[in-house]
Amino acid sequence: MKIIVGITGGIAAYKAPELVRLLVKAGHEVRCAATGHAMQFVTRVTLETVSQHPLYSDLFASGGTEHISLKDWGDLLLVAPATANIIGKVASGIADDALSTLLLAFSGKPVIMAPAMNCEMWAHPAVQRNIATLKSWGIRMVGPAEGELACGVSGVGRMAEPETIAAEVENISTSNFQLSTQKWLVTAGPTFERIDSVRFIGNYSSGKMGFALAEALAEQGADVELVTGPTHLDVSNTRHINIHRVESAREMYAAATELFPQCRGAILSAAVADYRPAECANHKLKKNGSEGMHLDLVQNPDILATLGSMKQEGQTLVGFALETDNEEANAQRKLEKKNLDYIVLNSLRDKGAGFGVDTNKVTILSRDGHRTESPLLSKHEIAQLIIQTTT
Ligand code: CTP
Repeated sequence: MKIIVGITGGIAAYKAPELVRLLVKAGHEVRCAATGHAMQFVTRVTLETVSQHPLYSDLFASGGTEHISLKDWGDLLLVAPATANIIGKVASGIADDALSTLLLAFSGKPVIMAPAMNCEMWAHPAVQRNIATLKSWGIRMVGPAEGELACGVSGVGRMAEPETIAAEVENISTSNFQLSTQKWLVTAGPTFERIDSVRFIGNYSSGKMGFALAEALAEQGADVELVTGPTHLDVSNTRHINIHRVESAREMYAAATELFPQCRGAILSAAVADYRPAECANHKLKKNGSEGMHLDLVQNPDILATLGSMKQEGQTLVGFALETDNEEANAQRKLEKKNLDYIVLNSLRDKGAGFGVDTNKVTILSRDGHRTESPLLSKHEIAQLIIQTTT
């Protein structure tokens, strides 16, 4: 991979040559870009020697367009150390030197930052806000770690070790570049609709398919917002998966509609209850002699259809369908009605597919008429196939 290592002016800059050395040793081609302040901590000769290329540090040294040729050259831009200053500049769109200009030009390709600063600076709301902004744009953060800082105190702010940063680079280089700059929304599990303080209407969805989708997206480097109904499942890849636990369809609706505008796409695999009790008693309902009980149900909002109506140019929306008759024709109708790009048809006819089990068999229909049919596979393999087909 072609990697640009950006170095900014923090004491951890002294570790940058070691990081470059590790990357070169792993077989990558590396070029360095540094700010003026970085040059207080590390020399041009060192960086040019370890990278075996000229250093980029002056915006106008070769006519003022080197940030564009470097952007075209690089597959990945890694800023280590990243000071509060460079983080703030990128979050605000400021380009006033070689590295900040390159960072703004480097859109659509993966960027990793390894923040390093004093712990009070790291905790400052402005820095935390800027970090959240950069993350929402798909910029990946490695560290900072906790430990002894150059200023003599201990806290969170140490740059992650060069080995840790190099490992994150390997992670990205073996994954899907495109997904590593994207955020996806996934819904999973059942919804529970309360009848009273101890009872609810639910369904048999285990959440396994949705969790497998979230994990497969995260493995490919995407950042995932996973909105799940009640389930005992947990996520192993906690670094790239932000989990939102909800109970009812209306809570899932609120979370999904809020998150969708920040996402490149959404895969809605939750088994959302179509109806909920019109009223929920705030105490346990008592038996009423031998008489039966009547529950009035009202319709829940359709999350998938709502996201279909919110969808903007460039966003992808994937829904699921569980059909028993005229399966493909019904799924195709659902795809058009809800403005989807893909629909994943679950077949209940196949043994080993559906609720609760670890395997599944699906047919993926696309808006432009493509059809992909899977054999019976593990839910993890099905998730990989869905991602490969729809992203
Ligand atoms: N879905 C949703 N919100 C709902 C109901 C369903 O987001 N209130 C989503 C599911 O997550 C899934 C798809 O819609 O992606 C499944 O739709 P399905 O329940 O099969 O079909 P419906 O639209 O409910 O239509 P019908 O009941 O007529 O089959």
